Amino acid sequence: MSGINGPGGTQSLPESALDLDSTVHDPQDDVSDDQSADDTSMLDADSALGDDTASETRSITDSVLGYQYENGRRYHAYRAGTYPMPNDEREQERMDMQHHIYLLINGGELCEAPIPPQLDRVLDIGCGTGKWAIDFADHHPEAEVLATDLSVIQPYWIPPNVQFEIDDAEEDWQYHSKFDYIHIRSMGGSISDWPRLMQQAYRNLNPGGWIEVTDFEAWATTDDNSLPAGSAYVEFQERLSEAATKFGKVMNISPQFKSFVENAGFQSVVENQHKAPLSPWPKDPAFRNLGRYMYVQMLESIEPYSLALFSRVLKWQPEKIQALLAGVREDLNNRDYHMYSIVHCVYGQKPQL
Ligand SMILES: C[S@@+](CC[C@H](N)C(=O)[O-])C[C@H]1O[C@@H](n2cnc3c(N)ncnc32)[C@H](O)[C@@H]1O
Repeated sequence: MSGINGPGGTQSLPESALDLDSTVHDPQDDVSDDQSADDTSMLDADSALGDDTASETRSITDSVLGYQYENGRRYHAYRAGTYPMPNDEREQERMDMQHHIYLLINGGELCEAPIPPQLDRVLDIGCGTGKWAIDFADHHPEAEVLATDLSVIQPYWIPPNVQFEIDDAEEDWQYHSKFDYIHIRSMGGSISDWPRLMQQAYRNLNPGGWIEVTDFEAWATTDDNSLPAGSAYVEFQERLSEAATKFGKVMNISPQFKSFVENAGFQSVVENQHKAPLSPWPKDPAFRNLGRYMYVQMLESIEPYSLALFSRVLKWQPEKIQALLAGVREDLNNRDYHMYSIVHCVYGQKPQL
């Protein structure tokens, strides 16, 4: 395992907090709710088709686009209820910001595995808005990039070598041919059986192909014990962990990635860890810049992560959830709390024949 890296390099996170005078805009102030948004355009287009085709495609679109609304957020329809986070525009913006954060952390690179310059087939599991798949396809015009998700939230205008498919990664994989590189990112809390996912990835890679699995720890660390044990943030992450585990999809799973990849049979397994401050408390300019993005990202994450799990699993009333989240926002805004999360990026190679 290599050391814990800083944004785009091997710098370590400064341990002391420094006075931070800049303020960070709170997106809660101006991001509107997306409850009224709906993808009716595909349904309208279907109605122009002949009768039989229309009813068939309408039932498909209903099962994929018949979104569920709860707690003021919009949730996926395909395999409804299996993924506890929203898929509305606000969540899509959060995913796109997180994509930028991953690039900041990794010096602008889209992957850490030592993949060859030429690839034939690439698979991105749980692609979200498809930002990674689109960027990767732009950088690898020779490769065919297949990206899958439960939600139809990907753009229409995409590079010719990207294809998006609605699919549940926990079902049996039915791909017609194997891949050279499989990418899985930010899927903590999405998967109930990680060893099975790794086995399916192994079986669907060509000999010599690479897997890469990346996620943040869903747990804040401090080097100086500056986050009080009784704080709202500690309560939040403990309840989140409890609810996700009860739901059957462990949230703070990334510390286990290395053992999952090794146990599936991959070789040359490497784990890189990167520190990401949860707010702009560090003095170091690169970490402070990363912390600015992380702070907005964290403010935008706490509702998506907790609303469905706290209400459906813990049976909390909305008022109780919002009271805790108000405390979490205060804690995130407290620059004396030197919180950071660790990103685990693990890659490994399927043995050559
Ligand atoms: C937090 S987002 C991460 C998106 C993307 N990988 C990224 O890094 O930006 C998790 C995505 O996984 C998708 N997802 C969750 N469970 C899934 C499953 N069983 N099969 C396919 N996609 C799934 C969700 O719909 C969501 O878009």
